[in-house]
Amino acid sequence: MTECAAMSALLEGVTVVPVVVVQDAGQAVPLAQALVRGGIRVVEVTLRSGAAMEAIERIAAEVPDMQVGAGTVTTVGQVQAVARVGASFVVTPGSPFSLLDAVADSGLPVLPGAGTVTEMMRLRDLGITLQKFFPAEASGGRAFLRAVSGPLPELRFCPTGGISADNASGYLGLGNVACVGGSWLTPKDALASGDWTRIERLAQEATGLAVGVA
Ligand code: 3PG
Repeated sequence: MTECAAMSALLEGVTVVPVVVVQDAGQAVPLAQALVRGGIRVVEVTLRSGAAMEAIERIAAEVPDMQVGAGTVTTVGQVQAVARVGASFVVTPGSPFSLLDAVADSGLPVLPGAGTVTEMMRLRDLGITLQKFFPAEASGGRAFLRAVSGPLPELRFCPTGGISADNASGYLGLGNVACVGGSWLTPKDALASGDWTRIERLAQEATGLAVGVA
């Protein structure tokens, strides 16, 4: 199975992927458990904090109902490191070939980022038809995705960057959107105070999002 096919299989039936910045690795397991209680089964832990690697390792080891991926992966060394700690998949904000090669070597499923038509076509030419559209709102949002569905009908996207409870269902209503990602389910203040009840509720609301009209 290719890295893209494996990613599609992993995201089968998933509509929302929380994008989390974990500042304290000790919170990783209760956070993941709260998300699982809220109906989430795939989470992206971004490498934007010193605690990220340990957080991924702990979730992978201790929360069997959660598939944990590493996000904001931008270097070859990071690909190798997240593979070592047990990440289930890799998310990249952009897609330099060196990074894609490293992911292919790791054997991990990948959701690679694209923000322009040319980047989307380059990934398509590599057989990668499921892509992260990033930064979604800043790059043209729903109008952009609707426009690329004409020339690139074979592509499916997971938009992230500026997605919220207010606009998520609008994205999910587009024919070329497989799922959405975002940090709105895990607000900084809720994480800081360990408010797992609030995070569980936000997760429940997100997984219950009705598919809107494009
Ligand atoms: C990402 O890394 O996918 C995005 O930065 C998440 O963006 P958000 O914080 O706007 O949801």
